[in-house]
Amino acid sequence: MADYLRPLLYLALSLSPVLAHDNGLALTPQMGWDTWNYYGCDVSEQTLLMAAQAFITYDLPKYGYEYIITDDCWQAPQRNATTGAPVADPTKFPSGMKAVADQIHSLGLKFGVYSSAGKYTCGGHFGSLGYEQIDAQTYAEWGADYLKYDNCYNEGLAGTPRLSYDRYANMSFALNATGRPILYSMCNWGEDGPWNFAPVYLIPARLVRAVTYLTQTIANSWRISGDIYDNYNRYDERCPCTSMIDCKLAGFHCAMTRIIDFAAPVGQKAGVNHWNDLDMLEVGNGGMTYDEYVTHFSMWAVLKSPLVLGNDVTNMTNETLEIITNDAIIAVNQDANGSPAERMWKVPVASGGDLSLWSGSLVNNTFVISLLNTSPETQTVTVNFTDVFIDQGPSYQTGTYAIYDLWQRDSSGAWGKNIGTYTGAIPNVEIGLHQVRIWKAVPATTTSKRDTAEL
Ligand SMILES: *[C@@H]1O[C@H](CO)[C@@H](O)[C@H](O)[C@H]1NC(C)=O
Ligand SMILES: *[C@@H]1O[C@H](CO)[C@@H](O)[C@H](O)[C@H]1NC(C)=O
Ligand SMILES: *[C@@H]1O[C@H](CO)[C@@H](O)[C@H](O)[C@H]1NC(C)=O
Ligand SMILES: *[C@@H]1O[C@H](CO)[C@@H](O)[C@H](O)[C@H]1NC(C)=O
Ligand SMILES: *[C@@H]1O[C@H](CO)[C@@H](O)[C@H](O)[C@H]1NC(C)=O
Ligand SMILES: *[C@@H]1O[C@H](CO)[C@@H](O)[C@H](O)[C@H]1NC(C)=O
Ligand SMILES: *[C@@H]1O[C@H](CO)[C@@H](O)[C@H](O)[C@H]1NC(C)=O
Repeated sequence: MADYLRPLLYLALSLSPVLAHDNGLALTPQMGWDTWNYYGCDVSEQTLLMAAQAFITYDLPKYGYEYIITDDCWQAPQRNATTGAPVADPTKFPSGMKAVADQIHSLGLKFGVYSSAGKYTCGGHFGSLGYEQIDAQTYAEWGADYLKYDNCYNEGLAGTPRLSYDRYANMSFALNATGRPILYSMCNWGEDGPWNFAPVYLIPARLVRAVTYLTQTIANSWRISGDIYDNYNRYDERCPCTSMIDCKLAGFHCAMTRIIDFAAPVGQKAGVNHWNDLDMLEVGNGGMTYDEYVTHFSMWAVLKSPLVLGNDVTNMTNETLEIITNDAIIAVNQDANGSPAERMWKVPVASGGDLSLWSGSLVNNTFVISLLNTSPETQTVTVNFTDVFIDQGPSYQTGTYAIYDLWQRDSSGAWGKNIGTYTGAIPNVEIGLHQVRIWKAVPATTTSKRDTAEL
């Protein structure tokens, strides 16, 4: 069924009481920093405030980074015995969570908190299952702007979309009921297909040939796979699935390029205020080369994943800082069009790995093109516009484009160098091992129109 007809399916649903909420957040993928990838359980008010200060020192808000998120292990051993409310560990957070949130806010930043839709969190602290209301209320009182909501110790309440939906929708409603807009980042590792059960499509604004329609969703983003680890392509038995579509064990220790494979088919399910989360970034943590981290950051950007840093932002190399502040790449991620790039082809390379071509639409009739080489050797590829513009049709395929390389600086030092005008193809592109090319394509003429066949 064409996606634009799907809203009709939900006509009856949308006439019943509203089941989901629109908190007005994540119109573009969220950007920020989270403690987990660098600190693990070793969180404290100091780690959060030092990161917040580093955001200011390095001017990261200018690029769009805004959330400072504590991951797991902020909790005291017990909830408040009288009220059942969550309590922060008084040795790690002697000032209390509200004071930490206040200080983060005073820097112009936003504060995020973590819990699990289970009896315990992954680190064995108290979880939120059965405590959704009081937890959401307490986070709102602290001044939280973001909740990362994990999936550990879920007591078997998973295995069907309905079970997962109920657990995650419960917290969604609880957050909504607080009256405070709190970005809701579902972390159920792709179990039961959150791309299917989290969005709720409403009646399109224009029923006739509606290509855009309103979407309400129980969450602003959902993780699509088991946890990332700081590695380019190593297969690890703890991340056993080859695709997430029917995966029975999401696991963890998923190498970066494996997550790109997982993301390829589900781009169609993401959009404004409901994003596929490819997991937090490892850029700067040391397990990959410069080219591999450029690939990591670029592909997360073009697939419209949240860009949540996971490195020590208080102590970054110039290379790390340069990668995470490439504003031409970030502009692709934050493009108002909100459509993840799609993989147009993928071909295996005899020596291992593969080559793949990705294409995505940006606002103002412009496009992003990505060429990815996960093989262990340099490749030469002619990028044909018949492939790039499969969706747009013949007039686009034969069109002429100004091409900008988003990993080269122009003469003024800005990212995005114009490398020339191309018709039909970008010929003979040399791409080194584990490299990526990210181009922006701008039609050189304004005469092309969308092919009617596509609408
Ligand atoms: C709660 O949901 C309603 C209905 O979608 C929405 O209008 C409102 O903005 C939401 N409020 C918050 C705080 O998320
Ligand atoms: C538990 O809640 C009560 C009532 O709000 C409060 O007086 C008390 O300080 C709280 N205890 C802890 C450990 O937060
Ligand atoms: C959410 O879960 C709580 C505790 O299990 C339950 O009392 C409540 O009815 C649930 N809310 C919804 C909307 O399902
Ligand atoms: C900063 O990072 C470098 C490695 O990049 C390390 O050698 C150094 O100890 C770090 N400094 C601090 C204060 O953590
Ligand atoms: C990093 O960049 C800063 C500012 O541009 C410069 O002063 C410093 O020398 C650079 N450090 C290295 C190791 O290149
Ligand atoms: C799109 O075009 C409008 C009108 O020319 C312009 O104001 C806007 O900056 C453009 N957006 C981008 C992302 O280029
Ligand atoms: C692009 O087209 C040329 C000419 O038809 C062909 O030789 C080449 O293999 C194509 N490139 C790819 C990556 O398919």
